[in-house]
Amino acid sequence: MLSQEEIKKQAGVYAADFVKQGTTIGLGTGSTVYWLIDELGQRVKEGLEIVIVPTSAQTAQLAKQANITVSSLDRIERLFLTIDGADEIDPKGQLIKGGGGALLQEKIVASVSDELIIIADNSKLVHQLGKFPLPVEVITFGYKQVRQKIVDTGFCKEVKLREKNGEYFITDHRHYILDCYCEKIADAFLLNDILHLIPGVVETGLFIDMATKAIIAYEDGKIEEIAFR
Ligand code: 5RP
Repeated sequence: MLSQEEIKKQAGVYAADFVKQGTTIGLGTGSTVYWLIDELGQRVKEGLEIVIVPTSAQTAQLAKQANITVSSLDRIERLFLTIDGADEIDPKGQLIKGGGGALLQEKIVASVSDELIIIADNSKLVHQLGKFPLPVEVITFGYKQVRQKIVDTGFCKEVKLREKNGEYFITDHRHYILDCYCEKIADAFLLNDILHLIPGVVETGLFIDMATKAIIAYEDGKIEEIAFR
């Protein structure tokens, strides 16, 4: 049986076949995408020519280290494909993302991409979204009041300001993340809309109707492709 890291690697390496010569792709963030970047770096050494639009400073740095050409979204006419990880994937392909704190750029890049392929280990497949705390990116000003307004919606039992290494976690865009413990999200569309109505909320980790396909890797080495639309 494969370890968790080996499973993630399987998904990342498999997804590299979707990246065609001469294309520009959006590249997500996280420990599964790490393996995709690693594989693409190998293929670039062997002659693959691609440009990537990174969804975080971390991904930009990893891509540069792997000698992959990095561009900003503003310089791109059209994105045909983005590949990214996820924290939860429901049977309809609705997602929770932002465990790595890069949800804002990830969502912008995904929203302008014709196709969004999610790569993940099978632990990310869920019947209903919500066990994984939903990340919500907020501006730092008034975050306590915003936190309370999210609690007051009644959708989430607890809302915690994310910390890392004993300090408040700061996103690439200098915001905070509020992790919302909702347990079960019965209507992801509604929750996303309600959260967006709260002044101070920048973006939510609910990615609705964005994923076109998931590549899921299993402990026994099996890879499954799930098409969503
Ligand atoms: C980062 C994300 C990641 O895609 C998500 O957290 C999954 O990460 P990993 O592949 O490390 O499990 O949304 O903001």
